[in-house]
Amino acid sequence: MSPARGRARGGTSSAGRTRGGGPALTRRETLRLFGLGAAVAAASGCSLIGGTPVPELMASTAPLPKPFAVPLPLPQVARPYKTDAYADYYELKQRVADVEILPGLRTQVWGYDGQFPGPTIRARSGRKTIVRVANGLAAPTVTHLHGGHTPPQSDGYPTDLVQPGAHRDYEFPLEQRAATLWYHDHRMDYTGPQVWRGLAGFFLVGDEEEAALPLPSGERDVPLMICDRSFAEDGTMPYPGREQGPGAREMFMGGVLGDVILVNGAPWPQLRVDRARYRLRLLNGSNARTYELALSPGGTLVRIGSDGGLLAAPRPVRQVRLAPGERVDVVADFSAYRVGDQVELRNLAGEGPQARVMRFAVDRDARDDSAIPARLSRIEPLDPAKATATRDFEFSSGSMHGGTGWLINGRPFDVKHVEARPKLGDTEIWRVTSDVAHPVHLHLAHFQVLSVNGERPEGPPEWKDTVELREAQTVEIITRFTGYRGRYVMHCHNLEHEDMAMMANFDVI
Ligand code: C2O
Ligand code: CU
Ligand code: CU
Repeated sequence: MSPARGRARGGTSSAGRTRGGGPALTRRETLRLFGLGAAVAAASGCSLIGGTPVPELMASTAPLPKPFAVPLPLPQVARPYKTDAYADYYELKQRVADVEILPGLRTQVWGYDGQFPGPTIRARSGRKTIVRVANGLAAPTVTHLHGGHTPPQSDGYPTDLVQPGAHRDYEFPLEQRAATLWYHDHRMDYTGPQVWRGLAGFFLVGDEEEAALPLPSGERDVPLMICDRSFAEDGTMPYPGREQGPGAREMFMGGVLGDVILVNGAPWPQLRVDRARYRLRLLNGSNARTYELALSPGGTLVRIGSDGGLLAAPRPVRQVRLAPGERVDVVADFSAYRVGDQVELRNLAGEGPQARVMRFAVDRDARDDSAIPARLSRIEPLDPAKATATRDFEFSSGSMHGGTGWLINGRPFDVKHVEARPKLGDTEIWRVTSDVAHPVHLHLAHFQVLSVNGERPEGPPEWKDTVELREAQTVEIITRFTGYRGRYVMHCHNLEHEDMAMMANFDVI
């Protein structure tokens, strides 16, 4: 890396926003998939902020498809193969499949049931759900339910590998509130490439409280998995991994950005909608891109949910920021438009094609019995006075095995090292600091954000499992460790950072 040159002036700290576009950086932005040999990488280095690498765009060599030319796909809803008094049982088979993502080209994906995104599991709070994952791939896998309140043996610890040809039953008690969760690969050191190839899907938990609300439902409850990918001319989705060992090539060690925005696996798709309210479950399934989503030409999105389920009350917003791993549920009301209008969901953090996400075509008048109640749920604020410990976690780059790696409290991930030992039932404050942007995720424990750079966030508390730290921030979160004892991880959800060791164990004792 060549530190001085890469200093990104005018760029922003956000993972998704690439540089402001000074002349020195333009060349880098046009680097193409097949031009990424070691010589090129060594000569150009990666983009840096204050000497630290930030996510880098990998340009497609395939021509970019026309936006809004394909319909939005809806992931198939999985059906249990068995249901009994104890649980609902599902089976997902991980396998390679050839699918059409760019019109006219075949792309090989690794999919749960050969699908990208994988089938959506619709589960019920308090109803045990057992998912058998069978590995029909040529590489080991691990499956993690992101946002799940899961006992450790089913949480997808990064070294709990399912070998090719083997399978594992993951048991999810789902003693948790309704929320938009997702499952994805979590294999130690290889999560970035394996998610990039397609190993991710929705897992929606419902409960009685939510079902009793008049929110849009059925066809008007739409999960949207947003992620970016790049394509070679032959339609493949190559991942810029190292020739040997884990992680992305040096110039992508800040994170891999694609130039094609996919929603539910389709490039810049279009959804025909009624003049009615829709619940959009937004999930950022990207490796490293952060989005700032807004409707164009203008319009309000009413936030109703977060990573950990419904908010206490709806919050109308003009835009929604979404870092990797985060979810936001919004209601969009298309009755505010006329039949024939086209409403774009745009990404204000992107430029050019990456500023587009998808389009809603307002198709017809229709009856709408839905409503957004003024009160959605009750959220008990966790009380900092009850915290029994305050711990610090510093997320930063640093040297690792002679190169640069991503560290927590100065260490690369070590399966044997335990960074924190909270007691079951205890409330703790965790203070997290960043150098460049890091979306920080905790397994098991949903949390509330107490402060960002010393300031209380706006509005009443919400339940989160992933919080975006922007450049040089300190965020305090408060959480209670409930449910299960055992070993869990916290990590950066920029998947390149995660694979390059930005992860730490915590044991609930
Ligand atoms: Cu979504 Cu540990 O990850
Ligand atoms: Cu998780
Ligand atoms: Cu990070």
